[in-house]
Amino acid sequence: MTMDVRFPVYLDYAATTPIAPQVIEVMTHYLGINDIFANPSSTQHSLGLQAEQAVENARTDIARCLNCNAKDIVFTSGATEANNLAIKGIAYANQHKGKHIITAVTEHKAVLDSCKALEQEGFSVTYLRPDSKGKISLEDIEQAITPQTLLISIMQVNNETGYIQDIAAIAELAQSKNILFHVDAAQAAGKLSIDLSQTPIDLLSISGHKLYAPKGIGCLYIRNRKNVSLKPLFNGGGQEYGLRAGTLATHQIVAFAKALTLACENLQQDYDHALTLRNQLLAGLASTNTLLINSDLENSLPNIVNISFKDIDADMLLVRLQDDIAISSASACSSGAIEPSYVLRAMGIEGDRLYGAVRISFGRFSTTDDIEYAIDKITTTIKALRELL
Ligand SMILES: Cc1ncc(COP(=O)(O)O)c(C=O)c1O
Repeated sequence: MTMDVRFPVYLDYAATTPIAPQVIEVMTHYLGINDIFANPSSTQHSLGLQAEQAVENARTDIARCLNCNAKDIVFTSGATEANNLAIKGIAYANQHKGKHIITAVTEHKAVLDSCKALEQEGFSVTYLRPDSKGKISLEDIEQAITPQTLLISIMQVNNETGYIQDIAAIAELAQSKNILFHVDAAQAAGKLSIDLSQTPIDLLSISGHKLYAPKGIGCLYIRNRKNVSLKPLFNGGGQEYGLRAGTLATHQIVAFAKALTLACENLQQDYDHALTLRNQLLAGLASTNTLLINSDLENSLPNIVNISFKDIDADMLLVRLQDDIAISSASACSSGAIEPSYVLRAMGIEGDRLYGAVRISFGRFSTTDDIEYAIDKITTTIKALRELL
């Protein structure tokens, strides 16, 4: 059998994606001396005005994908910044109304650490626990609400397991209680349809580099931005309605808009492709007879699958695979530390299974040959490791 694969086989799309070729092409028109490189705030000359127009067109394109008002989009450096801006920005500006926030222990560190920082400043935070599948129950959220609750922050798709929360139901609940609702959609945007005209989400964070745009760009959507009190994280030139000072990165912004537009156009195709690859992967790995699936396949995006192999330590496996296959043992942001996944631990996964967990994630450019190769390589590596036990 001949395989057409690019080495190392990249199966870490949840950490970051390559930039789509059409996106790279668009980006190049905003960089050099013959391009629209001017500062979009330099509106005294035509080159600046063209850059400003490019940014506004991008904002409109993004709003079209999300079915929201373009003026409610604020560009940031990514989802980390968007999460910080949403959580701290709302908390600082509205603390006279209450100082309580509800979130979940399975959130990304950008949310958890923003909440921890607020706790140091006298805010109180309820960290809800998931069930064994990763679900945060609506009843638990409702019970946690107090007259002091300002904000609920729950992610749409978990970055380690792919689990999809029932965001629409949480949004309805928050709206009925008059509490702001923030969604970290870093792993969901461009993979699930998000219609902000139908779902009463107040704040939504998106990251470009999870959806085939470059790293270093993202946005925060703020419903009725003009009427929402939000304290900016830093001060400067007043860009982005004063909410995010700093020269706008035109090339990143147009690239982000192009990538999100492509992802929205290809939503079903990308989803079906990921499902085919996940089915192939899991069927192939089942023959190891040691496969344990940590993701809840019914309620997860198919592009992320979290698995363990009985008695096999993830670090041992990954070291042996590192030159051939790019996969990770926990979320990329915390994999420098030896700590096992706090997400899986919260779902009740313990012991060897916890320490053995690996996340395999694929995307638009992954092929059935990539998966075939990964199955083969993982299977032989596991066999070799089992012989050492
Ligand atoms: C769920 C989630 N939130 C936030 C982030 C941070 O996004 P960014 O890299 O754009 O700051 C990530 C990326 O790892 C993520 O997966």
